[in-house]
Amino acid sequence: MQQRATVIIGNWKMHKTIMESCAFVKHLVSLLKEPKATIGVAVPFTALSAVADQIRKLDSKLLLGAQNLSDVSHGAYTGEISSTMLQEAGADFVLVGHSERRHLFHESNALVNRKVKRALEVGLTPIVCIGETAEQKERGETNDVLHNQIFGSLEGLTAHQMENLMLAYEPVWAIGTGKVSSPLDAAKAHAYIRSLVQEKWGKDVANALVIQYGGSVKPENAKQLLEKEDIDGLLVGGASLEPLSFEQIITKA
Ligand code: PGA
Repeated sequence: MQQRATVIIGNWKMHKTIMESCAFVKHLVSLLKEPKATIGVAVPFTALSAVADQIRKLDSKLLLGAQNLSDVSHGAYTGEISSTMLQEAGADFVLVGHSERRHLFHESNALVNRKVKRALEVGLTPIVCIGETAEQKERGETNDVLHNQIFGSLEGLTAHQMENLMLAYEPVWAIGTGKVSSPLDAAKAHAYIRSLVQEKWGKDVANALVIQYGGSVKPENAKQLLEKEDIDGLLVGGASLEPLSFEQIITKA
């Protein structure tokens, strides 16, 4: 069995100014004592460049990410931000197809797929988010939804490209609600996702793929989730906004 890295990412959503972001990073880095996991923060666009400088100054291994990107490389798209711009600003990774993007901003699997390809083109690691809604879960459609999101969002990718991305399983009903998935249910979903990846891209790609869990992760539930074989990390929203609670989650890895 391949040993996968544990990856814990904070998703700040639309929180924190440039100053707040830099202060957070400074505080977090001072708390971290050689963490076993790979740690990252997905910050607002405006804070990317300053946080990248801060990370460099602190000589930290913290990864820096954005929360979204454009599906086109450049052009007359007022308000959009390209993969090249993110990379230049210092991003290592980018969240793609977060459920808030899919539901509030109507992002389809096809759009997510184009964004994934844009990110990969410039060497940014996409963290592709998938997960079912409460209604879909009640109707017993979780596996169908995951199937469609995997094959739609990752369509046309080569095995090599698959080795350069990560997935995050985030049941929509668990995001920001305090209703965390049971570790057993989450582990089942992760195992199913890995089986789909194996079906299409083979065993090696599936075994190496990091699949994070997201949705109401807190210091109290992080350990039970991370103990599961197929759960390789966490995507943390609310509990990543305070350095202390984020650090408490990180120490569970
Ligand atoms: P939450 O958000 O931890 O606040 O539920 C997770 C996410 O949206 O990535």
